[in-house]
Amino acid sequence: MSSATAIAHPNIALVKYWGKRNVLLNLPLVSSVSLTLSGWATTTAVSWGTNSDEVFLNKEPAPAPFSTRVLSFLDHIAADRPPCHIETYNDFPTAVGLASSASGFAALALAATTAAQVECDRNALCQLARLGSGSACRSIWGGFVHWDKGRANDGSDCLARTVAKPDAWQLAMVVAVTSTSAKPVGSGEAMKRSQDTSPLFSTWVDTAEEDVSTALEAIGKRDLEVLGTVMEHSTFKMHATTHTAKPPLLYWQPGTVQCLHTVFDLRQKGVGVWATMDAGPQVKALCHQKDAQRVASELEPHAKEVHLLLPGHGARVLT
Ligand code: PMV
Repeated sequence: MSSATAIAHPNIALVKYWGKRNVLLNLPLVSSVSLTLSGWATTTAVSWGTNSDEVFLNKEPAPAPFSTRVLSFLDHIAADRPPCHIETYNDFPTAVGLASSASGFAALALAATTAAQVECDRNALCQLARLGSGSACRSIWGGFVHWDKGRANDGSDCLARTVAKPDAWQLAMVVAVTSTSAKPVGSGEAMKRSQDTSPLFSTWVDTAEEDVSTALEAIGKRDLEVLGTVMEHSTFKMHATTHTAKPPLLYWQPGTVQCLHTVFDLRQKGVGVWATMDAGPQVKALCHQKDAQRVASELEPHAKEVHLLLPGHGARVLT
């Protein structure tokens, strides 16, 4: 038996991934741009070659859909793998739209390949993590990350990479948690429903690459206004495809809308802050670190919890 422990941070998309060109390989229809965040982490320990398969989540035996997803992910590393023991711990809420699957599969990919003593460079790791959850390939990398959708059918050119290191730009993500209930529909199902039924979906795809180029240029020039504006535009377009799916899907709660208006009001008052949301009711506000405390205190009355997160590093082995 050999063991390894790895840590990875969640990432929040600034320009969203939404829609797949290959469901089995988790190949995206659109490229995306994200920010990996320190402050929150998934830590995962894998023992490769035990007596039976066992999965623990946050110190408890993991429920079936979660454990099956984790164990079948390990089959990608070796189809004839031995039984494994996995312990994974999130120091932030799981499955509520806070990117726990991104940090989760990034940490699992790194811990499992290290425990299995499989040679894996960062690109191979990125491709492996993507098989667990698309956005997990971005958490392999730190700072500002560009995930290129690629063109190859086998996904060989579908890779993520850091475009600016975590300390390259003093930005903060203020996360307003408006509900900690598990989301009613997971991102995979929501993506499929939007792709299959929303009349807006083709526009979403047609306009995504331009948003990615705008965001990358803004990161290069450290222009928060341009980055924040395209980030909000991307999130509202993505959510418009869920609102216009059949049946419709509305992730927003009253607190979500209140937080959005708070961000807009702050902007009216001259604070450089922009909002984004994922497949859940939480609002994530992007601003300069110097403004983050003010943004957090304005969001607090409308949220259950508010967290101030800073750019973070990519996945790494602890032991
Ligand atoms: O990686 P998944 O399958 O959990 O999908 C993530 C989808 C969004 O969070 C809504 C957008 C993104 O780019 O992270």
